[in-house]
Amino acid sequence: MDSSEFHEFLLSRSSVREFRDEPVPEVDITYILDCASTAPSAGNLEAWDVVLVTGRDIREQLSDAAYGQEHVRDAPLLLVVCANYVRSMSQYGERGILFALQDATIACTYMMLAAHARRLHSCWVGAFVEEDVRTVLGLPAHVRPVAILCVGRGHPPGRLTERLPVGEHVHSNAW
Ligand SMILES: Cc1cc2nc3c(=O)[nH]c(=O)nc-3n(C[C@H](O)[C@H](O)[C@H](O)COP(=O)(O)O)c2cc1C
Repeated sequence: MDSSEFHEFLLSRSSVREFRDEPVPEVDITYILDCASTAPSAGNLEAWDVVLVTGRDIREQLSDAAYGQEHVRDAPLLLVVCANYVRSMSQYGERGILFALQDATIACTYMMLAAHARRLHSCWVGAFVEEDVRTVLGLPAHVRPVAILCVGRGHPPGRLTERLPVGEHVHSNAW
């Protein structure tokens, strides 16, 4: 893939919130997880974990935890990406909290792009009641749910979302 193909690959992804009721093949799940495990992480500690959810009942409970977002219920696969504080704090102390959150976020980004590479659709969901997600999935105290990545095949929106002009983000040498 050359740089223009890479840019086109990024431009062709958008969040999908309407999913068909078709399971994601195991081979795609394996690909997504293998790609995520190549993500960089602080000290190479890989302070992230993921809970794979396919069961309708748990998806419904997670949808409730996510303020009733229907795509959380309808996506055939949910990847609940978590920061693992123990793995990172054992080496980095308090800073390990931030590192674990970054590790989890990067891993989730890799999963999202890996899904796109398999021509699957996805939507990153960050709006949820953490304690409810914790209860539904039985997460231990040292693990914080960061994102629910909804994955499946569905109906992309008609047009891509817009972005700020990139210059709005950029500060040269100092703010
Ligand atoms: C941290 C984060 C949290 C998000 N939370 C939600 C969410 O709770 N529900 C949702 O439908 N989309 C959510 N999104 C998706 C964004 O709305 C979407 O990425 C943004 O509007 C840009 O659209 P695009 O992904 O199609 O380019 C979230 C994305 C990120 C990165």
